[in-house]
Amino acid sequence: MEQSVNPDEKRPIVIIGAGSIVNDAHLPAYKLAGFEVAGIFDLDKDKAELTSKNFGIPRVCDSVADLVNLANEKNCLYDMALPASAIISTLEQLPDEIGILIQKPMGENLKEARQILDICRQKRLTAGINFQLRHAPNVIEARKMIDAGKIGDVYDFIVRVTVFTPWNNWTFLFDIPRVEILYHSIHYIDLIRSFMGEPDSVYAKTIKHPKMPELASTKSSIIFDYGDTKRATISTNHGHDFGPEKQESYVKIEGTQGAIKMQIGVNLNYPKGLPDTFEYCLHSEGQTWQSRELEENWFIEAFPGPMAGLMKKVKNPDYDYINSVEDAIHTMEWVRACHVSSDRGGTKVSDV
Ligand SMILES: NC(=O)c1ccc[n+]([C@@H]2O[C@H](COP(=O)([O-])OP(=O)(O)OC[C@H]3O[C@@H](n4cnc5c(N)ncnc54)[C@H](O)[C@@H]3O)[C@@H](O)[C@H]2O)c1
Repeated sequence: MEQSVNPDEKRPIVIIGAGSIVNDAHLPAYKLAGFEVAGIFDLDKDKAELTSKNFGIPRVCDSVADLVNLANEKNCLYDMALPASAIISTLEQLPDEIGILIQKPMGENLKEARQILDICRQKRLTAGINFQLRHAPNVIEARKMIDAGKIGDVYDFIVRVTVFTPWNNWTFLFDIPRVEILYHSIHYIDLIRSFMGEPDSVYAKTIKHPKMPELASTKSSIIFDYGDTKRATISTNHGHDFGPEKQESYVKIEGTQGAIKMQIGVNLNYPKGLPDTFEYCLHSEGQTWQSRELEENWFIEAFPGPMAGLMKKVKNPDYDYINSVEDAIHTMEWVRACHVSSDRGGTKVSDV
């Protein structure tokens, strides 16, 4: 698991939101990491009560103000996991100078992301966005290998997801104007930036599935332009309704001296998922593919990472917090750039 925290960095946590991601990932992961959760608040008190019972959280708060009192009393960090539309109004109710981790996306669009950044700056918050894929065990292995120069210069970063995710079962998604890139491919955009830096530009097209017309989009093709010899691509299709056999969910990174392929298991065989994997091929080892055993996966072992980083950043302002809002805003900018490219459309023969 990424980022062990020293005892003098550890802080208790209060959580705002008792929904699926908190129950399925945040709380089980914090338990694994030994993080203390002091209290929880959700507008739906029954959900907060049930979550508190299931995870032994000592206090269910009646309001944001009640949670703030508890956090002040116990010197807590905040963990917010709300629908993106509720982030700004909730942030405005919180005190200045706190440490807070906010679930992705950073607002519903770039305008909101910029507002969130402004609030964080005005209130002098130490704030992060929960892009936890950067902390997935196979991603950490890949970063170590690349930083050690093992695969040479990276020139191709490929994300391919061909799976069946029945998003059309979730009616609350029907009214949302941007779906696939904002809620799913955003993780890969953030990941690509973390490995490759900022691209020069992007070409993108995001579309509906004919059997899921209620959703703004469920399939995206994205090409990040890094110049004449480097690129990054994302191809997602969440409507592959042909059984698990031919599903795909992987990241492949090619370099001048080797390549890495990682399965992202959580997307496969919905809703069960499959394990993550890590394979590599090095020219120095004769071009055969090797695999490295992983005991941990993105879900859930990546989830302590962004909170552990927040604990370190609050303790030491010089710590390089990779999930900070100051970095995450750029992921939101590229999400917007993808939408602008998609809306604009491609080059027609009549244009040439
Ligand atoms: N891998 C990931 O990082 C990941 C995965 C899934 C979801 N998410 C994100 O997490 C967020 C929450 O997703 P979820 O699946 O848990 O949703 P959910 O609908 O299951 O839970 C949201 C909870 O927030 C509560 N709520 C809504 N407005 C509130 C407010 N103003 N104050 C207090 N409580 C409020 C609701 O009652 C609900 O219990 C979303 O933004 C989603 O994008 C991230």
